[in-house]
Amino acid sequence: MSEDLEKTNTAYQTIEDIPGLGPATVNKLKEIGFKTIESLSTATVAELVSAGIGEQVAEKVIEAARKSRAITFVRGDELVELRRNIRKLTTGCSSLDTLLQGGIETQSLTEFYGEFGSGKSQLCHQLCVTVQLGEAQGGLNGNVLYIDTEATFRPERVQQMAPRFGIKPKEVLKGIVYAEAYTSNHQTVLLENADEVIKENNIKLIIIDSVMSHFRSEYIGREMLANRQQQLNKHLHKLMRLSRAFNTAAVITNQVMASPDAFFSKAVSPVGGHILGHMSHNRIFLRKGRNNMRIAKLTASPSLPEGEIPMRITERGIESDEDE
Ligand SMILES: Nc1ncnc2c1ncn2[C@@H]1O[C@H](COP(=O)(O)OP(=O)(O)OP(=O)(O)O)[C@@H](O)[C@H]1O
Ligand SMILES: [Mg+2]
Repeated sequence: MSEDLEKTNTAYQTIEDIPGLGPATVNKLKEIGFKTIESLSTATVAELVSAGIGEQVAEKVIEAARKSRAITFVRGDELVELRRNIRKLTTGCSSLDTLLQGGIETQSLTEFYGEFGSGKSQLCHQLCVTVQLGEAQGGLNGNVLYIDTEATFRPERVQQMAPRFGIKPKEVLKGIVYAEAYTSNHQTVLLENADEVIKENNIKLIIIDSVMSHFRSEYIGREMLANRQQQLNKHLHKLMRLSRAFNTAAVITNQVMASPDAFFSKAVSPVGGHILGHMSHNRIFLRKGRNNMRIAKLTASPSLPEGEIPMRITERGIESDEDE
């Protein structure tokens, strides 16, 4: 197979197209969740080796997939060009879009964290609608993959929000691919096997609501912390790589705990430790304000200034005063 592979710089459509790959290897790749060229191009050699694929074959297969998608070293000016593929997804709430300078970016991870009832899941519901809008309306002209770990997704609520955006309640649910995750392992496996679903359903947004709840309840005590963080790290990397490979937005929600270094204040911080902190590009803190208002505060971002804005949860969804 080596000769065939070395000559390649064609764009392959499916992993079966990679020359010299036997059906046994193709099956092994599929078993560990690499069913598409896109996801294979972001695989590591170690992942393939752990599935019983020889190291040399693994290296060549990944290289073929990367070449097929032109993933290699790039110059700064080319990087700007690559970043042109990044799209922004409107949240459907003007003030929040302003805070995010247009909306939620594809190819990166956006985290909403806050106390119960702060509006995290409501926002996720609204994004299920806005992602289906055309690009001219701030949408991504695509569908959503919704991984629900707390069983709080309500299709009726999405239907209630849809008309404001000009989408029929009957139509909106067709754009949602839903999975309930029962354990942290199930949650991880769902995502590991998601590449084909993402491709076939034109998924442009992946939501995990909430990312930490299972990890937090299953791994208890200090002894288990290292192991938890290792699993979490793997899970978040997979999410990041899928988001890159398919140019989707990735949104996670997260719970908070009292800040250990703030005994006398009501400061809270997101759970998940440094691993989650490093992986989330934009982190937005949601809290309850007066008169049923909600405050969204951008607390970390690689390119946006910090700031906070007010918003409201109404029957129509999440909105601000500018939204009529
Ligand atoms: N149809 C509706 N009209 C107005 N407000 C609503 C509606 N549905 C839900 N809400 C409000 O949304 C809030 C719940 O928000 P949400 O479920 O998003 O919280 P959360 O941040 O996900 O909390 P948790 O940590 O418990 O998951 C409640 O205050 C509720 O009153
Ligand atoms: Mg919730």
